[in-house]
Amino acid sequence: MGLKEQQNCPSQRKIAVFIVLAFIPFALFHLCFNNPFSTIDDTTLQDSAANVVLTSYSFSSSQEEESQEETLCDYTKGKWVRDEMGPLYNGSSCGTIKDGQNCLRHGRTDSGYLYWKWKPNQCDIPRFDANRFLDLMRDKHLAFVGDSMARNQLESLMCLLSTVSSPDLVYRNGEDNKFRKWRFESHNVTVSVYWSPFLVAGLEKSGTMDHNVLHLDRVDDRWGNDLERFDTVVVSVGHWFLHPAVYYESGSVLGCHSCEASNCTEIGFFDIFRKAIRTTLKAVAGSRRKVILTTFSPSHFEGRPWDSLGACNMTEPYEEGKVLEGLDLEMRRIEMEEVTAAKAVAEGRLEALDVTAISVLRPDGHPGPYMYEFPFKNGVPERVHNDCLHWCLPGPVDTWNEIMIEMLRRWRV
Ligand SMILES: *[C@@H]1O[C@H](CO)[C@@H](O)[C@H](O)[C@H]1NC(C)=O
Ligand SMILES: *[C@@H]1O[C@H](CO)[C@@H](O)[C@H](O)[C@H]1NC(C)=O
Ligand SMILES: *[C@@H]1O[C@H](CO)[C@@H](O)[C@H](O)[C@H]1NC(C)=O
Ligand SMILES: *[C@@H]1O[C@H](CO)[C@@H](O)[C@H](O)[C@H]1NC(C)=O
Repeated sequence: MGLKEQQNCPSQRKIAVFIVLAFIPFALFHLCFNNPFSTIDDTTLQDSAANVVLTSYSFSSSQEEESQEETLCDYTKGKWVRDEMGPLYNGSSCGTIKDGQNCLRHGRTDSGYLYWKWKPNQCDIPRFDANRFLDLMRDKHLAFVGDSMARNQLESLMCLLSTVSSPDLVYRNGEDNKFRKWRFESHNVTVSVYWSPFLVAGLEKSGTMDHNVLHLDRVDDRWGNDLERFDTVVVSVGHWFLHPAVYYESGSVLGCHSCEASNCTEIGFFDIFRKAIRTTLKAVAGSRRKVILTTFSPSHFEGRPWDSLGACNMTEPYEEGKVLEGLDLEMRRIEMEEVTAAKAVAEGRLEALDVTAISVLRPDGHPGPYMYEFPFKNGVPERVHNDCLHWCLPGPVDTWNEIMIEMLRRWRV
C-alpha cells in the first residue's frame, strides 16, 4: 500500500489525531516575553564525558568511520530511569521558557516527571555540561530552524546554558518572538532561532487564507538568506505538514492536502514532507557546516479530544515496549531516510537527532491543561484545553540536548 492510498483512507484514530493537531496552533501561539537570565561565572571545561559514541541504528553504515577506541552506543534503545538529581534549571531560573510550556510556573502539581533520565542500553548519557557545550561552540553560530518544536528545543538549551553564562538577547523580531538571536560573550557563541514551519518557501494560513501554500523546490528565505552565517543548524519540523495546504513545484501546482474548497488533487502530505526535507538538506549541507535534524516529536493525545479532561494526564513514563506507530513512525522514517541519503553526498557533517522513540515513552512530559496558568483554580471544569504536543520545560527535551552535545563532541574529534 502506497503512502498516497494510506493517506486517503486513514484510520479513525489518525483522523482524530489530525483534527486535534489542527487546533493546536490556534491555541498555543502566544508568548510572554521576559529576559532575566541567571549569571554564574564561567568555569573551565572539564573533559570528562564518558568515552562513548552515540549513534542511532540507522547509521550503522557509517560506523566504520568512527574511531576504534570508542564504543558504539545506540542511544535510541534504552529506558527512562529514576534520577534523583532532577533538572538543572527551574521555571523561574530561566527567562526563556514560553509561558505555555512553563509547567512549574503554571501550577502543575505533580513533579515526578522532572526526575527521570534516559539510559541507553549500552552506555550512559552524561548530564548536560553547559561549559562543555559553550566550549564546543566557541566562536560559532548555532541556529535552530523550524516550528514550535524547534523553539521548544532551543528554549531548553538556552535554559541549560544560562546556568553558567548569561546570554544577551541581541535580536528579536516577529509575533511570538519567532526570530531571536542571543550572544554568549563569554565564549563568543551565537544562538539563534528562525521560525519556518515548512522549511521550504511558502505562506502560512492566516485569517484570509484557510490553507498553507508550500513551494517545495526552494528553501524559505527567512532563514535561507542567513545560511552562510550558520556553523551548526538544527532543523525540526513536522506537525504543520498535517494542515490543509496547496503544494507547488517549479511554479506549477503539484496537488494539495485536505483542501476541499480548492480545485486540485489530494496527494497527502508524506511525500511532500519528504520533498521539503530533501530540499532543505540539499541547501544546508556545506563543507564546514554541521547539520542536525531533530526527528518528529510525538504527541500524546492518544486519540482523545484535545479539550477533554485528562487528555494527557500520565505522571510517569511508559515502560519499554511502546513501539512507534502511525504518524510518528512514518514521519520519523521519512526523516531518517532523507538524512541517510543526504549524508551519502553531503560535504560536512549531517546527522539525525533521533528523539522520536525516546520521546514517545514520555506521555507525562507535556503541559496538558497547564498550558494555561492554574487551570483548576476555579474547580475542575468539564472541558479543559490540553497541550499534549509540546513539552514542559524543564522536561524531556533537556535530554534531546544532552544527546546533541554528544553528537557535537564526536564531530569535534
Ligand atoms: C529556581 O532556581 C533558582 C536559581 O537556581 C533559585 O534561586 C530558586 O530558588 C529556584 N526556585 C525554585 C522554586 O526552586
Ligand atoms: C568570534 O567568532 C567569530 C567567528 O564566528 C570570529 O570571526 C571573531 O574573531 C571572534 N571574536 C573573538 C573576540 O574571538
Ligand atoms: C478545476 O479544474 C478543472 C480541470 O483542471 C478545470 O477545468 C476547471 O476550470 C477548474 N475549476 C476552477 C474553479 O478552477
Ligand atoms: C486522568 O484522567 C482520567 C479521566 O479524567 C481520570 O480517570 C484519571 O484518574 C486521571 N489520572 C490521573 C493520574 O490523574
